[in-house]
Amino acid sequence: MNYRAAPGIVRDSIVSYLSAAESASLAEITQAVASRLGDVPASSVRSYLNLNTPELFERTSRGHYRLRIVDDHVAKSKPHPTYEIDRAKLVHANCFDWLRSREGRSVHAIVTDPPYGLVEYSAVEQSKLRKGRGGVWRIPPSFDGHQRAPLPRFTVLDEGDLQVMYDFFFEFGQLALRATVPGANIIIASNPLFDHVVASAMSAAGLEMRGSIIRLVMTMRGGDRPKNAHKEFTNVSVMPRSMFEPWIVLRHPLDGRAQDNLRKWKTGGFRRPSSERPFGDVIKSSPTPKVERQIAAHPSLKPQAFLRALVRAALPLGQGIILDPFAGSGSTLAAANAVGYESIGIEKDAEYVSMARRTMPQLSSLLIQKIDPIGA
Ligand SMILES: C[S@@+](CC[C@H](N)C(=O)[O-])C[C@H]1O[C@@H](n2cnc3c(N)ncnc32)[C@H](O)[C@@H]1O
Repeated sequence: MNYRAAPGIVRDSIVSYLSAAESASLAEITQAVASRLGDVPASSVRSYLNLNTPELFERTSRGHYRLRIVDDHVAKSKPHPTYEIDRAKLVHANCFDWLRSREGRSVHAIVTDPPYGLVEYSAVEQSKLRKGRGGVWRIPPSFDGHQRAPLPRFTVLDEGDLQVMYDFFFEFGQLALRATVPGANIIIASNPLFDHVVASAMSAAGLEMRGSIIRLVMTMRGGDRPKNAHKEFTNVSVMPRSMFEPWIVLRHPLDGRAQDNLRKWKTGGFRRPSSERPFGDVIKSSPTPKVERQIAAHPSLKPQAFLRALVRAALPLGQGIILDPFAGSGSTLAAANAVGYESIGIEKDAEYVSMARRTMPQLSSLLIQKIDPIGA
């Protein structure tokens, strides 16, 4: 990549590195920028810090800098509209803005289902979905006599889309690292087609990869014969029929040993379903039940039974705050309310914020048979 062709790249790279660090030396910043962009002279980095964008950076001591954007942002921005529903707080905001202004090390776990095509939740695509016309949302064929919910078309993502996805999750990972306490679990719904992109971007941002939780569920993906040649290749499926949904598990690196971290930060593990059984990484699930879809008509609604099992396990001592930065209908917050945890959700779309305010109490009060992860 030729950073000289696009000078803003160096500035953006410094901003993204400093958004995860309290303060850093010129040498550390230069090294971080070089690791992303190739060889960038320290003098160029210094001039960005000192001269070019004084509104973005401030010197903390000789040769050390930090991002000024954090304080300025808090001072300049209006407070985001926030609604309290039982023990949850729902914020109408863009989560990237919210995360930048959030006090560092103040969240104990993140459980979230982010947008993936990165356009499917844009205003344009949402308006097409709401009108039922075109766009990235497709209506799968009805199945067992039931009309299926619309799904985004992920198989059309090309190399450029994957790069955009990587950059999105790299930035999100840095902000997640800054907002969470050491040992915090960061659990993200994904898809077997691109979970590697999300996992590598978030690890590059400084989070530790800790495996996946498998939600065992029959999805509508894969299993089809070759298009327009299905009669010729009757015994072929182009892709395996997908029967699981991976939820990537990452961790904010520990502060000392697991036991030290648990004492100090109340994080650094998973809560067991019972003292005899550890939390397992396979959870039997089902498509979101009709009763829940009738309460909250969000196109990506996840089921309460699964979310309650996951959210409960995410705080090892049952203490702290769960964050869902892409809250949608508020289903994660509803699950947190159902298990008695504090939570914060961020949603940028006004219609989904209204939906969540209306439907969260109904979702959290549903009586649902508890599902335990398949344990040892
Ligand atoms: C995949 S959906 C999550 C739905 C959720 N699983 C549920 O059960 O309702 C992702 C949500 O993130 C929201 N979103 C997308 N980008 C966002 C951003 N930058 N900040 C906050 N919310 C965002 C979308 O409007 C959408 O509601």
